[in-house]
Amino acid sequence: MVSHPNLTVVAHPLVQHKMALLRDVDTPTREFRHLVGEIATLLAYEATRDLDTEPVEVWTPLERMMGTRIPGDRIVLVPILRAGLGMVDAVAALFPNAGVGHIGLYRNEETLEPVSYYFKIPPLGGDKRYLVLDPMLATGGSASAAIAKLKESGAETIRLICLVAAPPGVEKMQADHPDVPVFVAALDRELNEHGYILPGLGDAGDRLFGTEG
Ligand code: PRP
Ligand code: URA
Repeated sequence: MVSHPNLTVVAHPLVQHKMALLRDVDTPTREFRHLVGEIATLLAYEATRDLDTEPVEVWTPLERMMGTRIPGDRIVLVPILRAGLGMVDAVAALFPNAGVGHIGLYRNEETLEPVSYYFKIPPLGGDKRYLVLDPMLATGGSASAAIAKLKESGAETIRLICLVAAPPGVEKMQADHPDVPVFVAALDRELNEHGYILPGLGDAGDRLFGTEG
């Protein structure tokens, strides 16, 4: 059995229930988009469980107490275009002060190698935590290349959040970026000859944006 020390599969019943709806070939674009957001929220909750907090004074209607807050502007969301865009709004609702960077990559359909076309992230500094968002981790080429670019630009604390992963993608992340924890809703069986995850959910970008067929 292959061990995946940097992988967390979020097995919560809510996540698994929503994943079954998401995978269904008959789920229409509108519902698919909604489910991607809901599952991304639940995964982001797990992926930020160890965030630093600081004490804050609060006056309740009855008395003063010390509460807890997450220091502002620490989180940077980094969707991998296109499909990662489907996860941004939902996660940004949890972290309203988060910056958002964008990494444009697509897979060459023949070679399955990632082709880079865009990179823009907010300025570094202030102990930032980067949450890289992409629904699919298949060969791992796209996520690994995106994270390599992020590191080249100076990012240090990075987590990857995906909805569905396949073993080759998890293994590539472990080999290339063992310092980056990966959070997923499902670890599926394998890739087919076109690099699609089985059983998977099909082409995430096409299903999110209605560009299928
Ligand atoms: C999909 C997906 C990932 C990538 C995963 O993007 O959103 O970015 O494939 O595959 P990999 O792990 O083998 O690299 P795609 O290339 O289809 O681009 P799109 O989101 O623009 O449709
Ligand atoms: N990209 C997708 O959108 N789906 C897969 O199954 C693999 C890569």
